[in-house]
Amino acid sequence: MPRRIKIAAPATVANLVCGFDILGLALEDPVDIMELEIGGAPGLRIRHIDDYGLPLEPERNVAGAALLALMEELPEIPGFTLTVDKRIKPGSGLGSSAASSAGAVVAANILLGKPFSGPDLVRFAMNGEKVASGVKHADNITPCIYGGVTLIRAIHPLDIVQLEAPPLHVTVVHPQIEVRTSDARQILRKEVQLKQAIRQWGNIAGLVAGFMKGDYDLIGRSLEDVIIEPVRSILIPGFNDVKQQCMEAGALGGGISGSGPSIFMLNRDEEKAHLMADIMRDVYSRIGIDHRIHVTRVNTEGVRILEQD
Ligand code: HSE
Repeated sequence: MPRRIKIAAPATVANLVCGFDILGLALEDPVDIMELEIGGAPGLRIRHIDDYGLPLEPERNVAGAALLALMEELPEIPGFTLTVDKRIKPGSGLGSSAASSAGAVVAANILLGKPFSGPDLVRFAMNGEKVASGVKHADNITPCIYGGVTLIRAIHPLDIVQLEAPPLHVTVVHPQIEVRTSDARQILRKEVQLKQAIRQWGNIAGLVAGFMKGDYDLIGRSLEDVIIEPVRSILIPGFNDVKQQCMEAGALGGGISGSGPSIFMLNRDEEKAHLMADIMRDVYSRIGIDHRIHVTRVNTEGVRILEQD
């Protein structure tokens, strides 16, 4: 069994517009890089080699909280040393906390000889999400661990469905402002009207069917959110312009990535994905907000092993 492992944990797009807290997909880019070593004194030591100033105490660190939950279920507490090179900016809406939490438990599971199942790892990693946003949600963690597009039918008990999907090119813009997931959750209305719920159910079912059938038009028609987006989009300058112009230019559809501020667009081909990047760049240059753009694809393997020895 390896004693040291280096992995890449992918960014993820949660919600996929209509599927708040239940749908998500993994991206090829960006990724967090993490190294985990087993051995030494029992307990967990954490080091960050990035500049985000994240807490290093295991209980307050998202990867630490996830690993502690895993360690609690081991017959004997081993020693772990975790080194995190965070490249997915916290507060981006690209599953930064999920990548750290999921990457850490996937790495530990491999060093331990894989005693835990996929759903176990999701369960452990949700403790990291609790530290980050106060709520255990699995829609970033699950695609990060499994890859591809995933549906969380329920979290108590966990019921994970991996969805087939046709090839998709994803464009993401991350305007460099921070939206805290906890704030973006707090502003949501606690009740929905039945007629909104019916429209949302239709879209979620349509999106899942569209993925499974490889029906791009159905995917596009179903990327509509009548509940969350109208409330959250006000936190994101430029959102309406980006969305409207991308739709007019032929994106399949898109919206807020996770709790924002990143915005994503799904496209059938790479050329279109680059066109969306141009539109996003124009919008944010015009309103003078620094931004980062990723033109990428769906990551189908989840956390990737880079080195082990
Ligand atoms: N489903 C979560 C939310 C994802 O939208 O609050 C957070 O990235």
